[in-house]
Amino acid sequence: MNYEEVLRLGLERGFFMPSCEIYSDAPGGFWDYGPLGLNLRNRFIELWRRELVRKDGMIEIDGAQIMPKSVFIASGHLESFADPIISCKNCNTILRADKFITEKIGKYIPERLSNEEFDKLIQSYGLRCPNCNGEFSKTKRFNMMFKVGIGPAEDEAYLRPETCQTIFTNFPRLFKIMRGKLPLGFAQFGKSFRNEISPRQSLIRLREFYQAEIEVFFNPKKANEFEKFNLIKDYSLRIFKDGKIEKVTCQEALDKQLTPNKLITYYLALIQKFYDKTGIDMERSRFRTLAEYERAFYAQVAYDFEVETSLGWIELVACNYRTDYDMSGHGKVSGKDVRVMDNGEKIIPHIFELSMGVDRSIYCILEHNLKRDGERLLLSLKPYLAPIQVSIFPLVNRDSLPEKARSIYLMLRDDFDVFYDESGSIGRRYRRMDEIGTPINITIDYQTLKDDTITIRDRDSMKQFRVSIANLKETLRQIIYKYD
Ligand code: GLY
Repeated sequence: MNYEEVLRLGLERGFFMPSCEIYSDAPGGFWDYGPLGLNLRNRFIELWRRELVRKDGMIEIDGAQIMPKSVFIASGHLESFADPIISCKNCNTILRADKFITEKIGKYIPERLSNEEFDKLIQSYGLRCPNCNGEFSKTKRFNMMFKVGIGPAEDEAYLRPETCQTIFTNFPRLFKIMRGKLPLGFAQFGKSFRNEISPRQSLIRLREFYQAEIEVFFNPKKANEFEKFNLIKDYSLRIFKDGKIEKVTCQEALDKQLTPNKLITYYLALIQKFYDKTGIDMERSRFRTLAEYERAFYAQVAYDFEVETSLGWIELVACNYRTDYDMSGHGKVSGKDVRVMDNGEKIIPHIFELSMGVDRSIYCILEHNLKRDGERLLLSLKPYLAPIQVSIFPLVNRDSLPEKARSIYLMLRDDFDVFYDESGSIGRRYRRMDEIGTPINITIDYQTLKDDTITIRDRDSMKQFRVSIANLKETLRQIIYKYD
């Protein structure tokens, strides 16, 4: 399905909607999750915790969203987290220089060029304002962080543009508390904020968005002494190279130097395995190695995990080798010793990061799973991600069937997300649940009154089978929480 159909489903069924939409001054780039979207997102994060955080023995924290200026001096964001912008001298339209020039000349122009290089391009191609044909001002940099003032003195601070900075600032304490040993992974899920010049495509480019970030601290001298690599060495990675996707085992990726060391290869495999469990079509996924001009200012090596959609390839996870860039910066600016002991040696750990865009992951899950199946619209979500897990319908709205169905609803609602509906035809009720991805429909019919059994209808195959009410909870658990 395409973007328009996902958006329609999102809005009509309450997965997500523009924030403050009843107001004409509501800015772009802010979207709210409705009940179904919220449940889906919560379950996505639970899967992330299950498949990455807990499975790999990581430590999860929840840090503040507002941080003082010094943090962003140390992180480099104050100086470098800025987009090139041009404004029209006549009508004041503001545009992102790299995107505008790329679109106009049909050739990719990286944002990393200097302001002067952008000015030269604008001049040599004779580019003018698309609104009024006016002349552009010189290129300037626009810092994408939201500035806030703390307390009456309005001390300078910023909303975090990435969740990971509190992992870095807390690292010395946490390492000690955990009696840590490198390598050690830290995780954080939460909101980040970026004052995007052109937010667009609902959940794809937001100004306020969710990240689920993992930061693995390690000793660079030991990145190849990493035993967990053996667990995935035969697992196939999908690496994009020379215009096509190559399937190579982790061992081959390492041998062919497509990846720099065992530790990084292992975490790339973990990300791919995780997305395989989300129901995203892995045949439409790839790791793309970023060229120097595409990498974030703190990354020495970077891979984007990307997924193909109706909007093109979308980056879902930025996998950045940040070296000791962050910890050295925080050590210098704070004046604190951020080194830790590793086998008798005091070192500043290096960091490999898996920075996941949660909202766009949710979008891709919806787009890849929404299908037309004959007459019906079907959202074939993995059962463990479904916002409503079970629907309960009396076959007809009479003869004590509703009472019996409600008693089953009450029996299940503490353990599952259950929806009860007794109105309209049974076919229509099934369709409404298919569209929001409910994997199990329970129907209470006349036989239920005789032998205390119900029918379970499987969403995807539409096959039905009978289960006794006594075994119902256990049967539901087995269907919903089947991860393999
Ligand atoms: N922490 C990396 C990013 O936000 O892109």
